Order: sequence, then structure tokens, then C-alpha cells
Amino acid sequence: APLKDLNTLGVRSRARVLVDLDTLDALPAALADPALHGQVPVVLGAGSNVLIAGDVDAVLRIRADAVRTVAREAAGIRVRAEAGLAWDALVRWTLAQGLPGLENMALIPGTVGAAPIQNIGAYGAEMGDFADVVEAYDLHERRVLRLGRAECAFGYRDSLFKRQPGRWIVLAVEFLLPHDPPLRLDYAGLREELAAMGVGAPTAGDVAEAVTRVRTRKLPDWRVLPNAGSFFKNPMVPVAQAQALAETHPGMPSWPGEDAGTRKLSAAWLIEACGWKGERRGDAGIYAGHALVLVNHGQASGADLLALARAVTDAVAARFGVRLEPEPRILGEPPAP
Ligand code: EPU
Repeated sequence: APLKDLNTLGVRSRARVLVDLDTLDALPAALADPALHGQVPVVLGAGSNVLIAGDVDAVLRIRADAVRTVAREAAGIRVRAEAGLAWDALVRWTLAQGLPGLENMALIPGTVGAAPIQNIGAYGAEMGDFADVVEAYDLHERRVLRLGRAECAFGYRDSLFKRQPGRWIVLAVEFLLPHDPPLRLDYAGLREELAAMGVGAPTAGDVAEAVTRVRTRKLPDWRVLPNAGSFFKNPMVPVAQAQALAETHPGMPSWPGEDAGTRKLSAAWLIEACGWKGERRGDAGIYAGHALVLVNHGQASGADLLALARAVTDAVAARFGVRLEPEPRILGEPPAP
């Protein structure tokens, strides 16, 4: 099956088999499909956080997308969403139900099932702050488990599921949305956007709208210019290294890191400083509007995109001594050059 329409980077790789899952309880039968030859399929959600570097054997596409309020509890409203639901559709649905919490994450591409894998986040919020239980099929033990938030080990663009590739198929997520969550307006540019909208006392819906406007302005629409969002993670480095870099490179932004004693650098800034913003090699490019985004100007293959990403990584390492890591999952072996 052609995968071009199943990944937002528009890469023309192929899968030998494509299996669709329309209801979650059909998973054991789907995995037993003789066409799989007993192989474990790769799971694709919206294909918005993968670089398909070459052809893959089998792909499982989860289409089950039910969402409902499960219970009202002391700690909040419990909402369960199936893996195939579009993330932004979940955000809009919760807001329409009068359930705030997810508004800073409006318009993030991808599905609910993909969200926990890299613990998606934006504008000062992460899904791991709201996910209470992840229901996942364990391919080692061949059964569905309910993993609590702590077991999911959410970190910055990281989780148990990302660290154990090939083991888990995320089937659904249960969110616990606090009864009266505080608005998160501290991310640079959010208050300014709300002011520009003429909003004085913002609601969660206003925040979703402000985030939507900022994202639409800053990030390319994959339907117009294929991309997978941020291609690199913002690197965390020891405080001493960040200080040394700041002395030699005045104006370099940095923020407190995840762990004590670390600082988070801006991968976009590092890439731009190396002169790669807006550059291209053939049809593989770095977006002119935001240096963190790898784009496909047309016919770039997965291998072309990967080669460009490696060239950027090498340039940043040579200049700053900082090794960038890709954020999307890299799938498929690139063909030998
Ligand atoms: N900057 C540059 N050059 C650029 C773009 C940005 O130097 O071309 C610098 C600016 O100094 C800016 C800083 O980078 O202050 C941060 O930029 P921005 O606010 O755009 O955020 P980011 O760190 O580049 C992260 C996430 C995004 C998320 C935004 C907003 C990662 C890898 N990326 O980007 O997530 O939308 O913050 O919260 O953490 C994604 O993961 O796919 C994604 C788009």
C-alpha cells in the first residue's frame, strides 16, 4: 500500500500490508491476520510525527475514535477517548462540553493514540499533565493493560511507550480534567495574542483561539507544505555548558531544564545560527519561517529528509558541541545510497 497520504511529510514509501482497526476489540483478530505473517505491525495514527525513511512491512491504522465522559470524580471529570480520534477534535470536544484544560494544546496535529508516545505539548501544557490512564496492548504479554500516569513515565517529548518501541499499541486514553484548572498564559506571545484579539478576561475557549492563531502563523500547514511539526527536540544541557555557550553567543535563549542542574536550549535558534533556516537540498528543506521544522518541497524521499536532518545535526554539533535529537519516530530502513 502507498503511504504517501498516511504521513504528513508526504514521503512516498510503501507498506507490504495495511490493516485497519475500526473497533478496539478487533485488535487480537487483526494481529492474527495471516497477511501479517506473524510480524508485529507498525502503528500509524495521523502520520504527523513519523519520518518514514524507507519501505515498511506491515502498518496498522487505528480508526476507532469514540469519546465520552466516563465519570465526575472529586479530582475532576474523567474523559475517555479512543486512539483514532484526532487530537484537535478531542480538544474542541472537551471545550464544547464546558471542560477546560486542554486549550493550550489546540491544533496539535496527530491522534489521541499518538499523543502519549511523545507526550505532546505546546504553549505551557503537556498531555501528561492531564492523562490519568493509558490503555495499551502489550505485544510482549499479548494483553491489554491500564497504565497509570506514573507508569507511563512522561517526560519532555518522552514516555515509556517511546522508550520501548515495538512493545505497545496505545488503544485509548483516559483524561482527568480538573474541575477548575487555572489558565496557562505564561508562554511567550500568548498574552500578546489575547490582547490583539481584544480579549480582557480570557476563557479557555479564547486561549484555544489564541493558540490556534499563533500556531497558524508560525508553523506551516502540512497540507500545503508537508512537514512533521518540530523535527528536533530542544536539547537539555548542564547549566555550566549553557552558561559557557551564552558567554560566547550573547542572545542565545535558554530556559530551566527538566532536571535540576540542566537548561533547555532552543534547537531552532542553534539551527538558525548555523545558517540552515530556509535552506534546502533538493526537495528536502528547513522551513524558512521556523528553523525547527523539516519540510518536503515536493518529491523528497524519506532518505533525503533524513540526510538533511543529519547534516543539520552535524553542523550544530560542530559549532556548538550540542547533539540534536529527532523528535519524530524514524520508521523503515532507508534504501542503501
Ligand atoms: N527561534 C529561533 N529561530 C526560529 C524559531 C524560533 O531562534 O526559527 C527561537 C526564538 O528565540 C524563540 C524560541 O526559539 O523564543 C522558541 O521558539 P517557539 O516558541 O516557536 O518554540 P520551540 O521551542 O521552537 C516548542 C515545541 C513546539 C511547540 C512550541 C510552543 C519542541 C521540540 N517544540 O517549539 O512543538 O508548539 O514550543 O509551545 O519542544 C512539536 O513538537 O511538533 C511542536 C511544534
